[in-house]
Amino acid sequence: MKNSDNFKDKIIIALDYDDLKPVKNLLDKLEGKIFFYKVGFELFTSCGEKSVKFIKDRGCKVFLDLKYHDIPNTVYKAVKAAGKLGADIINVHASGGTEMMSAAKKAAEEASEYAGRHIDIIAVTVLTSLSDGDVNGIFYDYKESGVCNEGISSDLAIHLARLAKISKLDGVVCSARESLNIKKTFGNDFKTVTPGIRTKTISDNIITNCADNSKDDQKRVMTPYEAFNAGADYIVVGREITGAADPVGAFNKIYADIKDNMNMQKI
Ligand code: C5P
Repeated sequence: MKNSDNFKDKIIIALDYDDLKPVKNLLDKLEGKIFFYKVGFELFTSCGEKSVKFIKDRGCKVFLDLKYHDIPNTVYKAVKAAGKLGADIINVHASGGTEMMSAAKKAAEEASEYAGRHIDIIAVTVLTSLSDGDVNGIFYDYKESGVCNEGISSDLAIHLARLAKISKLDGVVCSARESLNIKKTFGNDFKTVTPGIRTKTISDNIITNCADNSKDDQKRVMTPYEAFNAGADYIVVGREITGAADPVGAFNKIYADIKDNMNMQKI
């Protein structure tokens, strides 16, 4: 790692809101600090394409996190539409299979040509909210055997990343815990975008706008520094910043985590 300033445009803020007012408020506060924002289900369902346009008009980039998972033809058309809308990163679920992902890649290439810039198409491997036990329950535990192998979520993430690589996607969404292994296996150019980011110091008290307020839903987490140290190309940060009373202060803490640890590494 070289200069911590290089990491400023590698932090993506998840705008999980149902209205453009808090979006504007946060973008105003983070002006000049953050240049990449994620539009997910909540904001896109509530505000539609206006949300993407709003961010693009401010000169920032958009990760349109709609995790497409459908038949190849439907995904092809959706990715093309997303690219034309202005998205810089679009994602699909790797579990949709290689035919679906190849269709998504073709659409992203065509949309890139139309837009005159490269649009990344990446695949979600295993959600960062799923533990080994959860993955076991969903994919393996047909007989309710209760047997849960440690590391099966990481193994599944690598398998799904392989399918994404075969489909010529630009990279994957994964836990930062899998980033290093994915980079080693599929090469440094294969991008890893990592949600499930938690700073140790504030993670206990930020979860205020969670479906279940009593606990954090993210399970395979890492700190911002740990994620970049594991080779993540981008980290996705949501409630640590959007749920904080002082979002700029929260951003500064995240940035300090990266900078301080990098400096320690140099000593
Ligand atoms: O608030 P928090 O930092 O947990 O937000 C993480 C964001 O990343 C959410 O918007 C969530 O939908 C998204 N995400 C994720 N895990 C994935 C893919 C996307 O948490 N595998």
